[in-house]
Amino acid sequence: MMKLSTRKLFYAIPPAWRFTVRRLYYLPLDTWQTLTKQRDELTPPKGLIYTGSGDFRRQGELALEHFKNFCSLQPESHVLDVGSGIGRMAIPLTRFLNKTGSYEGFDVIEKGVNWCRENITRRFPNFRFQYISLDNDLYRTDGGSAAKFQFPYDAARFDLAVVNSVFTHMLPEEVENYLGEIYRTLKPGGVCYATFFLFDEKTVWPEGFEFPFDYGHYRLMDNEVKSANVAFDEKYLREMAGRHGFTIRHLFHGSWRGLPREECKEFQDIVILEK
Ligand SMILES: C[S@@+](CC[C@H](N)C(=O)[O-])C[C@H]1O[C@@H](n2cnc3c(N)ncnc32)[C@H](O)[C@@H]1O
Repeated sequence: MMKLSTRKLFYAIPPAWRFTVRRLYYLPLDTWQTLTKQRDELTPPKGLIYTGSGDFRRQGELALEHFKNFCSLQPESHVLDVGSGIGRMAIPLTRFLNKTGSYEGFDVIEKGVNWCRENITRRFPNFRFQYISLDNDLYRTDGGSAAKFQFPYDAARFDLAVVNSVFTHMLPEEVENYLGEIYRTLKPGGVCYATFFLFDEKTVWPEGFEFPFDYGHYRLMDNEVKSANVAFDEKYLREMAGRHGFTIRHLFHGSWRGLPREECKEFQDIVILEK
C-alpha cells in the first residue's frame, strides 16, 4: 500500500498518465531484470503491475491457499475472476486447476487483459480473459456503467467467483449489480471470495486509512477520485448480500484496521459468500 502523501500525489495525475508514470519509474529495474533473466515468464514487469504494491507472486499464492481452505476450490473447479488485473489471482491457479477446470477473468483495463492473454492463455488455453469497457475513475473515465453491466456468462456456470481488491474500488450501486451478477453466474452451492474495507460504529480509523468522506453506508478516501478506496458499513454489506440470496460462510477482518498482521489472513477484510 502506498503512503498517504504518495497516494495523494498519484491520484492528482490523470488516470491514463498513471500507467505511463509507473512504467517509466520502474523502467531501469525492469530492463535490468529482463537482461539478467531475473524474472520468470509468468511474472509481469513491475512497471506493468498497476494493481497494487507488495510481493505480487506471494500475494497470489496466499490467495490460492484461502480458496482451497475456505472456498472448497477443487482442481476441476470453474473459476470466475472479476477484475482480473494483470493475473495475480490467475497465475497460481494455473498450477492448481486441471484441464477439466477452467478460469474466466474480465477487467476494464485492456493492457492487463492483453498481458494475461499473451502470457497466460498462450500457455494455459483453459484460462481466458476479456476486456470490458467500463468506467472506474481510479483507472479510466471513458467507459460504460458498471452499475448496469451484465456479465458475459451463462447462469450457474461457476463454482468460485473471486473479487480480490475490486469492491474496495467500486461504489455501492456497482457492487449491488455485481453481487447480483455473481449470484446469477454461480452454481447452487457456489462461493464468492470478495475483499472489502468494512467499518461499523466502533471502527477506529488507522492513520492513512481514515476514509474521511462519510456517505452513511459507505465512506471514501478521496472525494475527487471516488473509486480510489471505498469502505462499506459491514451491516449494509451483510444486508445487501442477504438480499441477493447469499449466506455468509466466513468473514475475516484484515490488518488494514490496525489488527496485528500475524492474526489476520489478509490486509483487506475477506468476505466469503455462499449461494
Ligand atoms: C487493485 S486491482 C486488483 C486486481 C486483481 N483482482 C488482483 O487482485 O490482482 C483492481 C482491479 O479492478 C479492476 N476494475 C475496476 N473496476 C472494475 C469493474 N467495474 N469491473 C471489473 N474490474 C474492475 C481494475 O481495472 C483493476 O484491475
